[in-house]
Amino acid sequence: MERTLSIVKPDGVARGLIGEVIKRLEQNDLKIVAMKMIYLSLAQAQGFYAVHKDKPFFESLTNFMISGPVVVMALEGERAIARYRDLMGATDYRKAAEGTIRKDFAKEIEKNIVHGSDGPESAASEIGYFFNRLELVA
Ligand code: CMP
Repeated sequence: MERTLSIVKPDGVARGLIGEVIKRLEQNDLKIVAMKMIYLSLAQAQGFYAVHKDKPFFESLTNFMISGPVVVMALEGERAIARYRDLMGATDYRKAAEGTIRKDFAKEIEKNIVHGSDGPESAASEIGYFFNRLELVA
């Protein structure tokens, strides 16, 4: 069993795609073990994406992430990290496989509907960034 962090980004929330994302998670055996809707502060968005702080898109990305509420979820399942990444599709929606969330809905590389942890270490730190132990069910 593995856990991973999922975020429905401000564009996904604004476009009414929360249910669509959750439907795909549930249909693919990714169990939601924690969930909340929050408005990130700039400092929180910058902290979350700290690994990208030197990238040219950092300022734009963090401003986008505070442009509206996000839905943050911890997911659990076998190979959850890789299987959720497969469901999301490539970061760049133009390179995402058919039938993935980003291929079906994203319109820009930055506004790509969802975020998912990229490995076990980031999953653990990202889940801990948003949820304490009492908020994770089971
Ligand atoms: P995410 O999976 O949340 O991880 C980092 C985010 O940065 C990514 O999704 C995109 O939203 C954004 N991103 C990655 N590459 C670029 C890029 N070349 N230009 C703009 N935004 C990017």
